[in-house]
This record gives sequence, structure tokens and C-alpha cells, in this order.
Amino acid sequence: MARLVVVSNRVGLPKSGARAGGLEVAIRPALKKRGGVWFGWNGRIAEGDPGPAQTLRKDNVEYVTVDLRKDDYEEFYNGFANRVLWPILHYRLDLAEFSRRDLSGYLRVNEYFASGLAQILRDDDIVWVHDYHLMPLARALRERGYKNRIGFFLHIPCPPPEILTSLPNHDRLVSALGAYDVLGFQTETDALNLGRYFSNECRFKRLDDETFLIDGRAVRVSVFPVGVETETFARLARRAVDTAFVRDVLDSLSGRAMIIGVDRLDYSKGIPERMNAFERFLGQFPDWRGKVTYLQITPRSRSSIPEYADIGRVVGETVGHINGAYGEASWTPVRYINKAHSRTALAGLYRAARVGLVTPLRDGMNLVAKEYVAAQNPDDPGVLVLSRFAGAAQECAAALLVNPYDPEGVAIAINKALAMPLAERQERQAHNFRVLRQNDLGRWAERFLAALEVPPEPQLAPVRA
Ligand code: G6P
Repeated sequence: MARLVVVSNRVGLPKSGARAGGLEVAIRPALKKRGGVWFGWNGRIAEGDPGPAQTLRKDNVEYVTVDLRKDDYEEFYNGFANRVLWPILHYRLDLAEFSRRDLSGYLRVNEYFASGLAQILRDDDIVWVHDYHLMPLARALRERGYKNRIGFFLHIPCPPPEILTSLPNHDRLVSALGAYDVLGFQTETDALNLGRYFSNECRFKRLDDETFLIDGRAVRVSVFPVGVETETFARLARRAVDTAFVRDVLDSLSGRAMIIGVDRLDYSKGIPERMNAFERFLGQFPDWRGKVTYLQITPRSRSSIPEYADIGRVVGETVGHINGAYGEASWTPVRYINKAHSRTALAGLYRAARVGLVTPLRDGMNLVAKEYVAAQNPDDPGVLVLSRFAGAAQECAAALLVNPYDPEGVAIAINKALAMPLAERQERQAHNFRVLRQNDLGRWAERFLAALEVPPEPQLAPVRA
């Protein structure tokens, strides 16, 4: 079996601790199972020029990480990746802040990653690159002469060409994806959008529904919805619900029903909109006042980016407003916490919550939704209220699907979830759980790697430079 080299901007170094973003949650177990190398940024900013890559071996994974320079961090991470690509790929043209300097920083860091990889890559390695930070990486590697099979998986949404084309230099950036062999997306819509871009903007020749002919290579564009470790997470939740931590939380609720939301502090997650919907719910269904507590766990993220600081302020104010307007001396409607929690703590809280509120305005997949389902007690399950704009809505079709832009609709769904009869809860839970067990994290990785390991057809073999 070929050695697997995974590349992502953020590397989940082996440490116990709080839950990270979806990418890290997905890659870590998949890579541990097969073994291989994980290459990327270690989260550190070098004082001067970054030194050589650092290597750490744990179990069957070798972590090879590099520092970023201060200007790389500003222009690549805070700049182009998270102030241009992130908002645009989440359909938020209004929030994109483009500068040519950031774009050159983005390209520079991709070159830096390519030269770091060049130190470790062997001819027969297969390379699996993750997420929007590294769109031009395969091209940078090809320019260095690498002929390896290289795959790319986009964890976040891919908008239609009408939006992609508003990205300055999109022709250079999006077409660079053609240097990969397999391009993986979370949903059918995402894959179709890229396919339309390839056909309409790049004029790449389509060979069949999923394949394009690009520079003499067959490039596959396909759907691989990322999953969670369904059974493992279910077991973890069964244990975690009896821990002192979860018991303390439940004791502090004095018998009230718990609604839970867990998200990075990010505007794509729709947290203020969700808070507004919860306020509507309290206004419209007064019988629930004093009987339900909404716990929102929201670790801070990308805090030096102004739009993230803004969203932090808005959420804080909204929580203060709701608690001021509806709270009692003996009851706080919303508990809002920025502290990150461990996977075990979250698993226990999910199982204990009557309602999981997952209402992003746009989300590639959203693994919190899937973990919430995995964590439920099948005999007495809670109800998932899920945005139709999360990739997870495709599989968790038995959740209460909502439009996060419609606060009244979400308020009604919260009421419906809290009042739902046991039989209906069981039925919805069984459906969602079945789907998530079938398409779990292991299957995601297996399917992607199987596609990547298929050698190119002989007549399309790479043309030697
Ligand atoms: C999302 C992205 C990941 C990213 C994570 C955390 O899940 O898809 O690529 O790693 O958020 O964000 P951060 O900027 O802290 O890496």
C-alpha cells in the first residue's frame, strides 16, 4: 500500500484537549487508521525566518510541521484564506476584503508548503490535500516535477460560478484545482458548482459526469460527504453522560430541558440569527419560559480578523439582551460560554440535551449535527433542529430542517422539537442514525482514497515535461 501524505494548513498535533474545527476532527482518526504523514502548519509564528520542519512521531503517524512567518500569517491566514476565500466560498461576498498583497502572500505560502513537501515526498506516495488554504498546492508541486497522485478535499461549500467569478484572479486560482487528480466535495451541489465552473469558465473538456480532461490527465470531481465515527461517538456519549461534569451541568439546570448549540465563533454559523429565533420562541411560546435553558458553547476563532471580533460583540450583546428581557432571578434563559470543551464533555452534553440547534447560514457539512445524532439515547432521543444550508441536511433528512434566515420558522421548530412525542423522536433518530452509521468517517476516507489510488488510464497518463 502506498504511503499516504495528508496536507492541511492546520495540523492536529497529538495532544489531548478541546475540540477543534471539523477538518481536524475528521482527519485525525482517518489518518491514524491507515498511518502516514501529516504535513502542515503547527500554529506557531516564527520570530524571524522559520527554521526547518519539525517532526514528531506518534503511533503510526508522522507529524511534519512548519512555522509561518508573521507576514505569512497576516497575508495568507488572516488575509486571503480567511478574509477572501472563507467568506466568498460561504456565499458572503459582502464580507470579502481583497488585497493583492494578501493574494501574493497566499501564493507564497503555497510555494513554501510545496518546497517543505519536496523534502519528504517519495515518488510513490499518494498525497491528500485539505481545504481552501491550499487550492494551488498541486500546481506548485506539478511545477516542481511531481507526478504523484494528488487529491483535494474541500471541507467548506463550493458556491456556483456566478459567485466564484467574483473572486479576483479566480481564473488563476480555481483553474489551479485542475492540477489535482481527484477533487472531493461535501455535497452534490458543491461538486456540480465546480463542474459548471470548469466547463463554463475554464472550458475543460468533460469526459463523463464526474471526469474532466485537464492537461492530458483525467481529473475526477466527486462527492464524498465527510462523516463522524458514529459508533465510537455513541459509545463515548453513553459513558460521558454519567461523568461528574455532565451531572453538575444537569444539576444546575434544576430539571429544565436543555437546548444545546456548539460552534466556533464564526459568522457562517448563524449564531445571532439563532439567538433571535430563541428570543422569538420565548415570546411566542410563553409556557416554556423558566422551563428551558439554551446552552451555547462557542470557542473564539480567528480573533484578529475584524469580522470575527464584530460577530463576538454582536453575540455577546444579543445574549445580554435576551437574558435581560426574559431572565428571572432564578433562571437565565441563555448560557453563553467561550471556553472550548473536550470531545467527551461535548458528547455527554449532546446526549443530555433535548434539542440540538445547528443553524448555520451556510456550512460545508457541520459535524456537530452528526455528532449530536450519534450521541443520542435511542430509547429517549433528543431532536436535531438543522439548517437546510448545512451539508449535513442531505443525510440527516429526518431532522427538523429549518431556514436559519427565518426566525419565526426556527422558533416554531424549537417548540415542535421540545413538544415532540416519543415515538416520533425515536423514528427520526433511528433514520438519521442509520444513515450516519452507513456513511461514517472510515467510509469517507476509504472512498476518497480508493478514488485517489486508481491509477490514471494509460492513454491519459501524465505527459512528461
Ligand atoms: C473549518 C475549516 C478548517 C479549519 C477549521 C478551524 O473547519 O474547514 O480548515 O481548520 O475551521 O479554523 P482555523 O482557522 O482555526 O484553522
